[in-house]
Amino acid sequence: MVASVSKCRVCREPAIIDLPRHNANFCAEHLLQLCRRQVEKAIADHDMLSLDDRILVAVSGGKDSLAIWDILLELGYRAEGLYIGLGIGDYSDESGGYAQRFADERGLTLRTIDLRGEYGYDVPTAAKVTKRVPCSACGMSKRHLFDEAARAGGYDVVVTGHNLDDEAAVLFGNALRWDVEYLARQLPVLPARDGFPKKVKPLVRLTEREMAAWCIVRGIDYQVEECPMAVGNKHLGYKEALNSIERQSPGSKSAFYLNFIERMAPILASHSRAAAGELVACSSCGAPTTEPDSGDAPVCGFCRLRGRVAGHDPVPVELVLHGGARTAYRAARLAAGSAASPGATADGRTAQ
Ligand code: AMP
Ligand code: FES
Ligand code: ZN
Ligand code: ZN
Repeated sequence: MVASVSKCRVCREPAIIDLPRHNANFCAEHLLQLCRRQVEKAIADHDMLSLDDRILVAVSGGKDSLAIWDILLELGYRAEGLYIGLGIGDYSDESGGYAQRFADERGLTLRTIDLRGEYGYDVPTAAKVTKRVPCSACGMSKRHLFDEAARAGGYDVVVTGHNLDDEAAVLFGNALRWDVEYLARQLPVLPARDGFPKKVKPLVRLTEREMAAWCIVRGIDYQVEECPMAVGNKHLGYKEALNSIERQSPGSKSAFYLNFIERMAPILASHSRAAAGELVACSSCGAPTTEPDSGDAPVCGFCRLRGRVAGHDPVPVELVLHGGARTAYRAARLAAGSAASPGATADGRTAQ
């Protein structure tokens, strides 16, 4: 936010935010206009959505997904929400509350899925049992449930709130490893394919800071805390690295990502097509999955994970946090006045 002497680039009224990458300041009204226009441009450039699509917005209760739901409705799209309770202790309960209140206050439809209630496991327990980082089970479960909910509900497209900071950080990580498979698939639109719904990211031209400002101006209350399981992970490190470059050289982050999409992604597209193998139906849930070499019945990654983890007793969030993440989690719980203690269990989780 800026000193009151700064003026909006468009109307010369007092500005509420400075955006160095645009080399300009904006008042509330023209900040909203800028955000709307960037979303419209992303949708048009990548043929993301049409006005008669039935859209399912994956809402986490954070600023980005609530903002994109709000923006799409403003622009006249038909969008309903989906919240997944991942069982990450108080964080999930609170996040679900923000999503539900947003929907209730506007009379919108929010579908909810509770991972433990409906599938018998949660993210902390999956992390403990698989001995992998929580985000791995979390990402796999979310992707599967977004797809399944879209298929079951007859939606044309799934929208997620991934923004420019998210996408640039993922691109940075993939480029550090020159992971061509992932680079080839890192697009703002994944077309529908073999039973997978179309998936789009209309916020790729907007930053976290712009989305926070959208929510503040529009009076949208959102989960401010980061997921406690993500604290200290590589993705957040990449974001910090890019922010440091951006401070030195405003506009670098958007040039890095948007020029990749414009110039590099088309070159990689042929690679992606060659890599896309045939898919078959999972013998357990029917979701599309790759055919096993062994000749066994095909089982998708989600069903394999569920088979391994379901039935294990819930593991408290704190048990799967390490070092700084655990300290940050305790501090946040104390600040929120929660009763969480070192021995607290992750029970009483989201039950939408
Ligand atoms: P994240 O991976 O947490 O950065 O989230 C990226 C996007 O995934 C969000 O903007 C949402 O669109 C979606 N998402 C994340 N968590 C959830 C959740 N618990 N339920 C539904 N959608 C989610
Ligand atoms: Fe998935 Fe944190 S939201 S591990
Ligand atoms: Zn203005
Ligand atoms: Zn399956």
